[in-house]
Amino acid sequence: RTAHFTLDPAFTVGDVDDRLFGSFVEHLGRCVYTGVYEPGHPSADSAGLRGDVLSLVRDLGVTVIRYPGGNFVSGHRWEDSVGPVADRPRRLDLAWHSTETNRFGLAEFMDFTGKVGARPMMALNLGTRGVREALDLQEYANHPAGTALSELRRSHGAKEPYDIRLWCLGNELDGPWQTGHKTAREYGRLAAETARAMRRLDPSVELVACGSSNQAMETFAAWEAEVLMETYDLVDHISLHAYYEEKDGDRGSFLASAVDMESFIENVIATCDHVGARLKSRKRVNLSFDEWNVWYQSRYEPPTGDSWDEAPRLLEDAYSVTDAVVLGSLLIALLRHADRVTVACLAQLVNVIAPIMTEPGGAAWKQTTYFPFQQASRYGRGRVLRVAVDSPTYPTRVYGETDLLHATAVQGDDGSVTVFAVNRGTAEPLPLEVSLRGTGVSEIVEHSTLHDADPDARNTIAEPERVAPRPQSGTELSGGTLRTTLAPLSWNVIRLA
Ligand code: AHR
Repeated sequence: RTAHFTLDPAFTVGDVDDRLFGSFVEHLGRCVYTGVYEPGHPSADSAGLRGDVLSLVRDLGVTVIRYPGGNFVSGHRWEDSVGPVADRPRRLDLAWHSTETNRFGLAEFMDFTGKVGARPMMALNLGTRGVREALDLQEYANHPAGTALSELRRSHGAKEPYDIRLWCLGNELDGPWQTGHKTAREYGRLAAETARAMRRLDPSVELVACGSSNQAMETFAAWEAEVLMETYDLVDHISLHAYYEEKDGDRGSFLASAVDMESFIENVIATCDHVGARLKSRKRVNLSFDEWNVWYQSRYEPPTGDSWDEAPRLLEDAYSVTDAVVLGSLLIALLRHADRVTVACLAQLVNVIAPIMTEPGGAAWKQTTYFPFQQASRYGRGRVLRVAVDSPTYPTRVYGETDLLHATAVQGDDGSVTVFAVNRGTAEPLPLEVSLRGTGVSEIVEHSTLHDADPDARNTIAEPERVAPRPQSGTELSGGTLRTTLAPLSWNVIRLA
């Protein structure tokens, strides 16, 4: 049976905030050291940033980068990460059982964001620290001059303020694994007082309160409601985090991971709006999905023992074609909720559950997951059109009957339309018809497909270009209807003008 949907520019979801295509750099494993930063690497610039990685990140189209954690931030002292590198202390990092040298810090990160054309999203330590330290960092980073902390920054070489606009009020403080884990009430109060103080310094900063670490947390939704009761008028966004993996060989459910992501988003929207209604507020709190990805958490063995290595190999998942198709579907889920999801960060950027891999002293290459993100960032700008699919279904163990087709479409300011579509079926091609009513498009610019006869195919250092999107032929547009066939287990980008 053929899957269908209709596109009509009169029915839109909303404008895409370009911060939907964000990513995340944490001091974790080799994300920073030998990832983005490796003085002595043949491609490194004078600041020690790897040139090969800079060019891959630019090409990926990352718009904002969250930093410095993650779990790492809950033990972080920002003062360690500024000033002359030779004076920076070595510290134990309890989150990842590693030694942090602080050779890469705030100035280096800001240099990196500038070179890749992204904006910073700075996370504050509200695990082991509080209002005072958050204010100090804000003043150090953003105050122009004439105070002890702003002059300290200037003495460190940054004459102009960094002007960091977007701040996370802590990280995953609902999680018992978090250093300084808190109850919703404790966290809500601290987040509110931190936000209030930061707004005294600068009312225009954008603030993200911590939501739940994932939808399966026992405190999910109650946590959001209690935190928002304290912070509703003081914050702009609430965070969501979610990671997906194939469990027990259940590929069908894994391919349907976006069903969970969409329900998570809709449940958080409902909770935000419930609190807004209780407070009789006209304000709307938006969603910052600031950690999302495929992550084989079940394979992760936390480092223990006496060795506290510098930049150990941690969370270096090698992604398959199947993982890339799921990641594409997660991007579709984010775009389908672009009216409320205004920030999203693919966790993470290099080496650690990342679209880009590197070898110390050696090559950098693109994982399979690089491609859907790059294409979504490149072609997913504009207005999301409302897509209601009529699709054949397949049975899944976790989500019941699920549509084989997952899709969205974005209309650019120039009138062009891009359809993003996933066929979740592992065996059969899926015929698709799209009625393009009123969109004004009349030709196919490109149909690109990520698919492989081997759904477990990966890119490796030995074979870095094994998997990539390829042009697909046979797609037709006539009489206002697009007709195509989606390969089994595939991510598709169909560009129309
Ligand atoms: O991205 C890896 C880790 O996942 C982050 O440090 C943490 O916030 C989350 O649990």
